Amino acid sequence: MRGGAVAVALDLLLIVAAATPFCFGANVTYDHRGLVIGGRRRVLISGSIHYMRSTPQMWSDLLQKSKDGGLDAVQTFVFWNLHEPIRGQYDFTGRKDLVKFVKLAGEAGLMVHLRIGPYACAEWNYGGFPMWLHFIPGIVLRTDNEPFKAEMKRFTAKIVNMMKEENLYASQGGPIILSQIENEYGNIDSAYGKSAQTYISWAASMAVSLDTGVPWVMCQQSDAPNPIINACNGFYCDKFTPNANNKPKMWTENWSGWFSSFGDPVPRRPAEDTAFSTARFYQLGGSFLNYYMYHGGTNFGRTSGGPFITTSYDYDAPIDEYGLLRQPKWGHLKDVHNAVKLCEEALVATDPTTTSLGPKLEATVYQTESGLCAAFLANVDDQSDATVNFSGHSYHLPAWSVSILPDCRTVAINTAKINSVATISKFVPQLLQNDKTSEDAFSGWSWINEPVGISSNSAFTKPGLQEQINTTADKSDYLWYSLSTTIKGDEPFLKDGSQTMLHVNSLGHGLYAFINGQLAGSAKGNYSDPSVYVDIPINLVSGENKIDLLSLTVGLQNYGAFYDTKGAGVTGPVQLKGSLNQSTIDLSSKLWTYQIGLRGEELGLFTGSSSEWITQPTLPKNQPLVWYKTTFEAPTGSSPVAINFLGMGKGQAWINGQSIGRYWPRRVASNAGCTGSCNYRGSFSPSRCMKNCGHPTQQFYHVPRSWLQPGSNTMVLFEEMGGDPTQISFATRETGSICSHISETHPIPLNTWIISDEETRKQAQPTLSLDCPLDNQVISEIKFASFGTPQGVCGSFSHGECSGKEALSTVEKACIGLRSCSIIVSADTFGDPCGGIAKSLAVEASCKWLDPHEDAYSGSIRSL
Ligand code: GAL
Repeated sequence: MRGGAVAVALDLLLIVAAATPFCFGANVTYDHRGLVIGGRRRVLISGSIHYMRSTPQMWSDLLQKSKDGGLDAVQTFVFWNLHEPIRGQYDFTGRKDLVKFVKLAGEAGLMVHLRIGPYACAEWNYGGFPMWLHFIPGIVLRTDNEPFKAEMKRFTAKIVNMMKEENLYASQGGPIILSQIENEYGNIDSAYGKSAQTYISWAASMAVSLDTGVPWVMCQQSDAPNPIINACNGFYCDKFTPNANNKPKMWTENWSGWFSSFGDPVPRRPAEDTAFSTARFYQLGGSFLNYYMYHGGTNFGRTSGGPFITTSYDYDAPIDEYGLLRQPKWGHLKDVHNAVKLCEEALVATDPTTTSLGPKLEATVYQTESGLCAAFLANVDDQSDATVNFSGHSYHLPAWSVSILPDCRTVAINTAKINSVATISKFVPQLLQNDKTSEDAFSGWSWINEPVGISSNSAFTKPGLQEQINTTADKSDYLWYSLSTTIKGDEPFLKDGSQTMLHVNSLGHGLYAFINGQLAGSAKGNYSDPSVYVDIPINLVSGENKIDLLSLTVGLQNYGAFYDTKGAGVTGPVQLKGSLNQSTIDLSSKLWTYQIGLRGEELGLFTGSSSEWITQPTLPKNQPLVWYKTTFEAPTGSSPVAINFLGMGKGQAWINGQSIGRYWPRRVASNAGCTGSCNYRGSFSPSRCMKNCGHPTQQFYHVPRSWLQPGSNTMVLFEEMGGDPTQISFATRETGSICSHISETHPIPLNTWIISDEETRKQAQPTLSLDCPLDNQVISEIKFASFGTPQGVCGSFSHGECSGKEALSTVEKACIGLRSCSIIVSADTFGDPCGGIAKSLAVEASCKWLDPHEDAYSGSIRSL
């Protein structure tokens, strides 16, 4: 039942929610219970959206979905290498328009946590540092080093001043309430010896001297000097304590999922466990929590780090890569946020008192003399459900769950019981109009062969094998190592019975070896070991032989002590030898010719405009080193667009001159480690709930709608390994089914729980709600409905032993033709198919567009 305190809390909640845009001119300070904004202590919920991982056209929608999901704030890194690609030349346009992003966040009623870093990690190329930093004489990054500190201070001050000029700090009336300096340095600082400490003190005072009027945070930095707040990152942070009694307990990264890397399965984190970690944090005194990521987005261009981080940075976040709600995660967390907000008044008013209710069972109460009371009941056992007695009442606590009681009496939510709908989002193949006249669907392709080996005038020679990153300065993924060598006819390994081998040691990340112009072999590393050691069987001729090694990077390292000095490329040895080991010729110290990047890159082929594109005699398929070009018309409608690259090998793709990133559908995830179902009970780690084993790690690649134009669009590909571009197809990202599964014992929905009139309270029973994802959609079909003991998950529900006959028609009557519907889950609604047994209602439905012309579900596969 609703108490008076809860009613007040709700009113406050609604007032805060309505208060947009964000503008209050408040100083931000803190004490041991939380940030104090404009004199008011707050319990805050935040989520990471990295603005450059989506497009400005997507920002408002993403921010609104964040607000609707119950967030108070958004958090972003500022990637230095994006904004200052060349020293002294800044770029804040388009996707890099930080000021616009912060303003839009404010307009959406969200506060902002600005993590300037400038080291970021974030699976971003080189951790966010510009490559030119590495070449400053005498520089050592992330330590007490004058050249580095001068650059770090300059960039940090640049960003702070930009924000100040636009009045974006809360102290100026803007939305920024927090900043961050450095990132997780405490994880690796021991490797930097004594200088680590002086560096951190310097970073702290440098940041404070910039006088932002809002607090600074360092995460994973237990020795963060005052007044910097040290914050926690991880899957759980309920046990964390700040390093001083006057600092609030803050969690800057609650990992909502995990990143993925080419060749590995894709990690997932269950909604119940994410919700559990959040509720536990607020239970045990937490005051600020940020989901990393709330929307992960896309690593466009060559921005992914790792190496081997995928182009998708979906992260299993509550909003998916394409901007669709990931349900039930988004909705379930929203319910948790609403429940926490109902407790906020009690939470900020006092310290918690935790008592044991039995083994692994804990009750925490926030109670004031003035009558405020909020409680959290936790069962941290990862196996057994429990029934506990709290304040004279009995509560059922599933294993690994927390119940939140905003009035110390009534359960508003239990983290293991999902009220939110689940959805299945899917890629729907789209028929494309190829804007060419020919009947032959494939004649729309033209191509240019990338030459094997040296083709550029800027090629140069050097004795010995050069490290790649120091050579290319990351201007390109590619570096050619070329050599002509004379082989005498009487080399032992050229004789009968011995296979000649080319042995190459490379620091990574990938290698193609060409002998006399022909591809002889290739090898790639992976995220855990990027290096490449290969023995490639080759055929040499007597006399002159050409050896061309194309070495490539797949995103630069972003994490670890001295990660910035980890090299890449063919550092040797490079040897010719016979399989029977009779002799070896070492080529390592010969005079090699180097070419940075490809001819096609030098010519700017990615724009599509060159007179060299040819269409005769036949489209090359499954041949290495080919540039392809075609034109197409964009899929109709407004749904997000993706390209299915199945059939291609590895390369890069550009749409109308914009790079959508590296594609690599041929890289298949290892077969081990995926589980059909995922048990949320127990401590999570990224390998716990993986998918895509035995399938490409990433097959679909996001093409932002705003990069497409009406009429003709140009697509350019550079294919390294060999692929068939005619197999490429387009798809749109759509919400397929929506599902819900609610038991008779579920907590009543929050919105019912907080309404106090007599009539509504009488109906306050567990309720199943269905909601179409978009405004102009209605429920068109009930694919499954069962009241009794239904089994399975969304997309594969089945009837249990107990199943009432009327469920389907009852749900159809209540829902068909409506945008959303609610049904009380009880035998009163459905009749009782099996007395004495606990029952539940499971429903799978689909929605359709109101306007038949916008039916985005139709379409069939056709290649370009
Ligand atoms: C953290 C880091 C983030 C990100 C995350 C993993 O350690 O601060 O930037 O890299 O790990 O996704």
